[in-house]
Amino acid sequence: MSSTFTGPEWARRRTYAIISHPDAGKTTLTENILLSAGAIRLAGQVAARGENRRTQSDWMKIERERGISVSASVMTYEYGGLLFNLLDTPGHEDFSEDTYRTLTAADSAIMVLDAAKGVEPRTLKLVEVCRLRDIPILTFINKLDREAMETSELLDDIQDKLALDAAPMQWPAGSGQRFKGVADLARDEFVVYRRPADGAMPERSERVPLGGDEIARHLDPTELAELREGAELAREVCPTFDPQSYREGHMTPVYFGSALRQFGVHQLLDALVEVAPGPEPQPATGGPAETLDPGGKEVAGFVFKVQANMDPNHRDRVAFMRLCSGQFKRGMKLKTDSGKQLTVSSPIMFFAQDRELADEAFAGDVIGVPNHGVLRVGDTLSESGKWRVAGIPNFAPEMLRRARLKDPLKAKHLKKALESLAEEGVTQLFRLQVGGDFVVGAVGALQIDVMAERVAAEYGLEVTFEPAPYDTARWITGADDKIEAFIDRHKTAIAEDIDGALVFMAKSAWEVNYSQEKWPDIEFHRAKERRA
Ligand code: G4P
Repeated sequence: MSSTFTGPEWARRRTYAIISHPDAGKTTLTENILLSAGAIRLAGQVAARGENRRTQSDWMKIERERGISVSASVMTYEYGGLLFNLLDTPGHEDFSEDTYRTLTAADSAIMVLDAAKGVEPRTLKLVEVCRLRDIPILTFINKLDREAMETSELLDDIQDKLALDAAPMQWPAGSGQRFKGVADLARDEFVVYRRPADGAMPERSERVPLGGDEIARHLDPTELAELREGAELAREVCPTFDPQSYREGHMTPVYFGSALRQFGVHQLLDALVEVAPGPEPQPATGGPAETLDPGGKEVAGFVFKVQANMDPNHRDRVAFMRLCSGQFKRGMKLKTDSGKQLTVSSPIMFFAQDRELADEAFAGDVIGVPNHGVLRVGDTLSESGKWRVAGIPNFAPEMLRRARLKDPLKAKHLKKALESLAEEGVTQLFRLQVGGDFVVGAVGALQIDVMAERVAAEYGLEVTFEPAPYDTARWITGADDKIEAFIDRHKTAIAEDIDGALVFMAKSAWEVNYSQEKWPDIEFHRAKERRA
């Protein structure tokens, strides 16, 4: 890959996230991407205070196991002349709204699938979130060194479950013990799989022409015939890769490999260099134009995640801001769209190389802004304070709990505590119109645990969070008379969120579908932009 890039700094940025169902291999792939790019070097370390840190990211797991240092939220590396910001999307037990919101800060994603399992439930949810902004998705089918589903079945699974056109860029030869490598369809070559020695650094795999005799050294006649048949099928029947359709989020190029055996990772890195988009203009209001242009002069960005210092004695927080335009410099004064001003004197920069803090950042980069609770998820920071970035949503909770106070006299305190945690983005808060009970919502169980502990530790309140009779929630909009009629029929299931927006609390996904069919004039939203 060429390492010369001429053009503005921002245009070198490629900011992306890896999405997957737990155990598909995201952590292993992340590690191998960083190793293959020769990039395991440290970005900033954020609030990672050993045992005190409650939510451990998957990357912390790499750090512990391998003794390498990676940042908690973003890892920067250079490859092929470009600068990549790989955003961490917490998975497993620390799956939360942060996972979803991180995707609002990414310009593209890699979707990792387990070759034996195909599309799994959480993959589906994450792709739905990518869809909100139609961000391009590149697919890596992992674990080919184990028995896999048929290749055509895997492609159909993507097509059927995710409604994405799956364009195979490669075709695997066997799987499990019989895995021999992949045919590179564009280059008409065979990429040979060799199991790496333990502890070896990832290397580029050997390639031989798909058509010549040399390939017979690697595959027996039956395997070769099967591979050629597969490759022909792919060319004749499967969609051909169309970069435009990928960029519009309708098509995904599909690669195969084994993260654990370090096979296919270089191809993936090269593919990112070739096709992944850089920062695009970001829709925004309040400024002199309708978008924030990555090449624009004014520094502006939005907060997509706030990480509280887990030490209850310190109320400081780190807000993660994705830059959308301008050239940020350390010490800059920025204003939020609600008029709060702050001097960003000690930003945590992930543009760092070899542990040195960089002094500037560009569109596509993420900086950590330490503050004392001033910044919230969804805030826009800019020099003028006029801009407001659109599209940092709240997501329909998948877990709802009713808050019950031990001491009913402390209802006011409870309201304040839950509101403040909701503003910080820890959990969402809904208040039932009938009875006034508070219901908190989250997309991951850990969010509820963290909130319960913080309500106790920081506000000294004894609260139990008991199961609510609802399973999910949808924001509802529509003409006044239709909404009134709907509320009238569902009095006990109507709540307001923290901004006063109307929410329908549903007993099941089935009830949501049923209501959608019965009330066609009402829109049921799975996501709501903050303070829209
Ligand atoms: P996640 O972050 O998506 O949850 O997945 P992670 O990388 O932690 O991988 C989950 C398990 O799958 C791990 O095994 C990992 O070693 C294994 N794995 C990942 N990629 C591959 C692959 O290409 N081939 C094979 N055969 N296995 C793979 P584990 O036993 O749960 O953990 P560990 O003890 O290996 O760390």
